Formats: sequence, structure tokens, C-alpha cells
Amino acid sequence: MSVTVRVPAKVNVQLAVGAARPDGFHDLANVFLAVGLYDEVTVTPADELRVTCAGPDAGQVPLDRTNLAARAAIVLAERRGLDAAVHIHINKDIPVAGGMAGGSADGAGALLACDALWGTQASREELLDICAELGSDVPFSLVGGAALGTGRGEKLRTLEVGGTFHWVFAMASRGLSTPAVFREFDRLTEGLDVPEPVESQPLLDALAKGDPEALAAAVSNDLQPAALSLFPELADTLAAGRAAGALATLVSGSGPTTAFLARDAESAVKVAEALSASGTCRSVRTTSGPAPGATVTS
Ligand code: C5P
Repeated sequence: MSVTVRVPAKVNVQLAVGAARPDGFHDLANVFLAVGLYDEVTVTPADELRVTCAGPDAGQVPLDRTNLAARAAIVLAERRGLDAAVHIHINKDIPVAGGMAGGSADGAGALLACDALWGTQASREELLDICAELGSDVPFSLVGGAALGTGRGEKLRTLEVGGTFHWVFAMASRGLSTPAVFREFDRLTEGLDVPEPVESQPLLDALAKGDPEALAAAVSNDLQPAALSLFPELADTLAAGRAAGALATLVSGSGPTTAFLARDAESAVKVAEALSASGTCRSVRTTSGPAPGATVTS
């Protein structure tokens, strides 16, 4: 017997970052939108905990207990006095170290899958609590759709979305470490007065209306200067997408994946073709959002 869960990637349509807190984390106003790139996590009873991974980026995925999927299984098992003896297989389609919450998706997916496999019947509240323990973006991977994340991003308020947004994502030639990007943010803002992060009401209105032009006018990412400082070539990818008619161009989360909001599905295909031809990225994907959160598929 095994259980498979499908979990979406995310893009941050707003990422407002405050000053570093005493614990090193940053308070955020983080507007997440789940998009239709998915990892699939399958758990099967085994003699001991083991993680395998398949997909184009599989070689970059840690298979030890630092993998968030393994940690999710361990945390749930510990809470129930069980042995986390499962084989976790990740079918990986979300870029690794890309700023699209791929690792978080695997954590949320493994948690939901183990809960179903073991019949532990954790409440939604407990699942969200474990997700928050695993990482700041993990609760959103469970929930999907669109949400405002505050605190370090783990306190979620579900947002209404009135339509489908079409996106193109350009995968970069290498990854970026999230802590390194936050450290660069700290370096770039040293001595400056960093305002409290607040959500943008025009942005929330644009999401609720399903209006891509209004959303394009409101997107922002405070981590973008830090990501560009560590990975300057991303500016060429952003420029190529802008020249191809994207309504908005931005770095996804801590990067280095770049995100391009298109007017409609047809325009997304044109932007994707231009980005592929530009030679400024490793690969290109078109998709849309919002996408559903972690879902048991079999
Ligand atoms: O929560 P998570 O483990 O995903 O965070 C990874 C790293 O990103 C943290 O160790 C921290 O350096 C940085 N981070 C932060 N503020 C947040 C979220 C993450 O500084 N709100």
C-alpha cells in the first residue's frame, strides 16, 4: 500500500521584507500564489526511512534527514510514538533551490501522505502547526490557492482570487540559497530604516478581481535587489521577458527563478518562446495560478 500526494509550487506576487529580528528571521508581508507546477510525493511502508528522488534536478536534492520530506515524516512519527519507517519517493518537477518552495512542497506532501498512510488523522490545525515547524513556506504548500503570510510567512490568511493568472517561469543555470539571499538583503539595507512590511491593498484587490494588468502594476519583491546582487545575469532574463511583452517581471521569492505575468495563455506562449530563444536561462515553463494545495491523488 502507498499514498501519493501532489503539491504545487508558488510564486510570491508581493514579498515585503522587514528588518532582521533578534532570531535572525525577517517579518514578512508575503502574498503567495500557488501555480501549476507540481511535485508528487509517494510514501510506502519500508524497513527504515529512505528518500529517493526522480526528475531533471534530482541530483541536487539531499536524500538524507535534512530533506524536508524526511523531517516531516520524523516529526509526525515522533508526535504519535511511531517509527518513521517509510520509503519517500519524490517525483520532482519544481525547480530545486529556485525560490518556488520546492523543498517546502515536499515537506507538506510527505506530511499529508504519512498522515494518510499511518491513519494518524491529524487535524488541519496540527498539520499546519507541523508545517510551520518545518519551514516558513511549508504551511502555504499545504494550503495552496492564494494567501497572505505574515510573521516569518507561516501565519496564513486565505485570499480570494477572481480569475486565472497566466505565468511563465524561467529556470536559472544554478540555484540560490535562501539564507544567503536574506543575508544579502541585510547587507544591502544596513544602516537604512527598513519599514514594517505591509500588504498592498491594490494588489489584494487585483487578485480578487482576477485582473492581470492591475496585478502587474502592484507586484513587488523586496528580495529582488539581493537576488540580483548575488546573480546579476538574472537582469538579462528579466529584460528578455519584458521585451517579449510580459505585463510584469520579477524574481520568484529568493530566486533565482524569474517569473513573468502574461495577459493571457496565448501571450504566455509568446513570452516563453522569446525567453527560450534569448539564451538567458536554462529552461522555461508556462503555467497558471491559483493551483490547489497538497492533495492526495492515490
Ligand atoms: O523557514 P525556512 O527554514 O524556510 O527559512 C530558510 C532561511 O530563510 C532562514 O534560515 C532564514 O535565513 C531565512 N528567512 C528569513 N526570514 C523569513 C523566512 C526565511 O530570514 N521570514
